[in-house]
Amino acid sequence: MQLVELRLANVRNVAQAELALRPGVSEFIGENGAGKTSLLEAVYMLSHGRSFRSVKRESLIRFGSESLDVFAVVDRNGRRRRLGLSRRRGDWAARVDGAEIGSLAELLREVAVVCFEPGSHALISGTADERRHYVDWALFHVEPEFADQARRYRRALKQRNALLRGRGAERDLDAWDLELARAGLAIDEWRRGYLDQLQPVVSELADRFIPELGLPSLNYQRGWTAGITLIDALVQRRERDGDRGHTSVGPHRGDWRISFVAAPEREHLSRGQEKLSALVCLLAQAQLFHRQTAEWPVICLDDLASELDAVHQTRVLEWLDGVEAQVLITGTAALPIPTERRRFHTMFHVEQGVVTTLL
Ligand SMILES: Nc1ncnc2c1ncn2[C@@H]1O[C@H](COP(=O)(O)OP(=O)(O)OP(=O)(O)O)[C@@H](O)[C@H]1O
Ligand SMILES: [Mg+2]
Repeated sequence: MQLVELRLANVRNVAQAELALRPGVSEFIGENGAGKTSLLEAVYMLSHGRSFRSVKRESLIRFGSESLDVFAVVDRNGRRRRLGLSRRRGDWAARVDGAEIGSLAELLREVAVVCFEPGSHALISGTADERRHYVDWALFHVEPEFADQARRYRRALKQRNALLRGRGAERDLDAWDLELARAGLAIDEWRRGYLDQLQPVVSELADRFIPELGLPSLNYQRGWTAGITLIDALVQRRERDGDRGHTSVGPHRGDWRISFVAAPEREHLSRGQEKLSALVCLLAQAQLFHRQTAEWPVICLDDLASELDAVHQTRVLEWLDGVEAQVLITGTAALPIPTERRRFHTMFHVEQGVVTTLL
């Protein structure tokens, strides 16, 4: 899939921008604070419904403005869709082909964006939330039933937690436990299946980008004790959960981790290796998406040059050269790309929130 056009209004320091995007690599060059990351944030929002860097959604809106707007034309195998996303007074509004849509999910389904940025090491060293979001984002895009089961799970969890805090009858707890276990099992199976499929792709890319760390393995933790069913785990924990006022077992406590032969624990990785491991996971996700759907997600790489040393950067750029994904890269200086490959590149200059096409 490819973004053909991107328009932004009032996203951070970008008051207005209109870009025509081409296939291949687009580079956004500019000084610190110019607005490069803000452009990628806007693209990411179309696929994730949030930014990758701030939890506070209102901070995305340009100072002094009431709202922000992102508009994109996406081409998926020749079928074009016009996507619009706005935030105004604490709410999102989404449009597909000009028509207002009821749920943000309908818009997010239309475009897949994978993004590596300076905070991406959190995928390795951050909270389990990050890692669940990573897996669930892929499932949302490739498993038609996933969103519905996830919604049922969240609802049951909320109801169970309310009952644990003393609001409601014991027999209601039985019903919500069953509902939680049913949706939870579906989520667990999808997550396990996804990581199984991802494993060989992660191995392929790790061998290419970070062979020095040896073979990687992905280890899945489902979120409740081994050897028992989820419903049994929920019933067993009732009393303790009641004391704490929340549910302590289930896929909302699930996690996964990557380990390498030469770095069995997360703590064995240097900061740079954490970033490279995160990059491997993200690009493997893009590659697997392509194998599953015959389409490449849009790949965004924020500040690639300052994140990786020259050797690792070259390995990544060579890999990118061989895939058909649309790639958006930002940096303070142009990448060392051979002149003969430059014709596959579009360069943009970003200065104080203003984007201009260079070539
Ligand atoms: N809500 C906002 N309204 C206006 N300006 C903002 C807002 N939030 C952030 N900014 C400013 O927007 C500018 C662009 O930030 P951005 O992170 O996109 O820069 P960048 O080009 O990626 O810089 P760097 O090279 O340092 O990563 C910064 O000067 C930042 O302070
Ligand atoms: Mg930046």
